[in-house]
Amino acid sequence: MTETKKLYVKTYGCQMNVYDSERMTDAMAADGYVAVDTPEDADLVILNTCHIREKAAEKVYSELGRLRPLAEAKKKAGGQMVVGVAGCVAQAEGAEIVKRAPLVDVVVGPQAYHRLPALARDARSGAKQIETEFPAEDKFDHIPAPKGRRAPAAFLTVQEGCDKFCAFCVVPYTRGAEVSRPVEKLVAEARSMVANGVVEITLLGQNVNAYHGVGPDGSEWGLGRLIRALSEIEGLQRLRYTTSHPNDMDAELISAHGDVPELMPYLHLPVQAGSDRVLKAMNRKHTRDDYHRLIERIRNAQPDLALSGDFIVGFPGETDADFQETMSLVRDIGYAQAFSFKYSPRPGTPAAEGAQVPEEAKAARLAELQDLLSAQQIAFNQSCIGQTLPVLLEKPGKEAGQLVGRSPFLQPTHVQASAEQVGRIVAAEIVGATKNSLAGRLVA
Ligand code: 5AD
Ligand code: SF4
Repeated sequence: MTETKKLYVKTYGCQMNVYDSERMTDAMAADGYVAVDTPEDADLVILNTCHIREKAAEKVYSELGRLRPLAEAKKKAGGQMVVGVAGCVAQAEGAEIVKRAPLVDVVVGPQAYHRLPALARDARSGAKQIETEFPAEDKFDHIPAPKGRRAPAAFLTVQEGCDKFCAFCVVPYTRGAEVSRPVEKLVAEARSMVANGVVEITLLGQNVNAYHGVGPDGSEWGLGRLIRALSEIEGLQRLRYTTSHPNDMDAELISAHGDVPELMPYLHLPVQAGSDRVLKAMNRKHTRDDYHRLIERIRNAQPDLALSGDFIVGFPGETDADFQETMSLVRDIGYAQAFSFKYSPRPGTPAAEGAQVPEEAKAARLAELQDLLSAQQIAFNQSCIGQTLPVLLEKPGKEAGQLVGRSPFLQPTHVQASAEQVGRIVAAEIVGATKNSLAGRLVA
């Protein structure tokens, strides 16, 4: 019997990291670690980090500062807190992290999580462990599948890495080249998730619609075909995928939006900017008009689509006139929900060398864009009032007797319902809407 040890994992950044954190927890469970909710007294702390913008990357160092007294207290009490940094900051900064924060014992990049148990074990002897290679093997092959009941909505990573090299983005450097997991492994993992209570799966990838995994017939399957295969799993009622590049929306995936009822009518399809000049400088390899025509094709397949996106303001060289083209694109397309960011120069990416837009201009443009996006989001949510929507109930809400779930359009939806309804898809009449959520009433 191995003795039980406490593991605390803190996750930053994208959903891919959320999935990875779960799998690291699974990997450590095999070594006798149980997950705890706070870092105090933990035997192993893992910060699963994000490098996408400078602000995100710096968060890890402030968290390490907060951990130091806890590690010292643990040592005084005769124990040892091993501190690990995982994720994209680990990949990008490697051994530099230990130089800047000597508290750190383990640095492990996203492709090496199956090595975590060995790294944590070796770190206990006091030697720093740095693992940022890109091994050829599939890291998930070596991590045992989670056991027991699971939450109704879960993530499944089907693809990792990115070959697009948008001029602003670190992902091709931190996550490496595009790799797709084979269809049969994914179907098996999805089946076991469903057997443990999962009813909705979100397929994840940095560039998920570039999925090209080997199918059971030996040929390469695209995401549309994978979605069709997964939709046949008995008990799997909802599918989603994120995040996508416009240039990889092929005909098969678009048609899946029209004829696979399990595929939810929600699509996160970042365009980043509305000006052709900026899109070209970003190395996006599509124009504003290409994006317009693509959205039209997808909306023809699925007229009920809720569209989401990502936008960057203040990309090097962006003028006020360029920015106004982003505004007009948002007005023309109409988003149900979106994320928008000030451009943040990232070390090693081409755009970091360009002429930077002053901070005040970035801030003003972001405020103007966010006002418009918020207004569109509120309008979309309010347009749901009076409709009856199927809601997958996921967990207790803030108020007594309340559960919260998701509508097909990914809106958090609150209803009065009893705890045993968690995991069910119920019909809810929408009676209220705010910017961030809906209020529903169960329809008998
Ligand atoms: N600065 C600001 N935003 C960025 N994103 C990616 N790189 C940067 C950067 N350097 C945004 C993009 C992407 C989302 C995940 O983060 O909009 O789609
Ligand atoms: Fe952050 Fe991107 Fe890495 Fe996700 S993939 S953790 S968003 S840098």
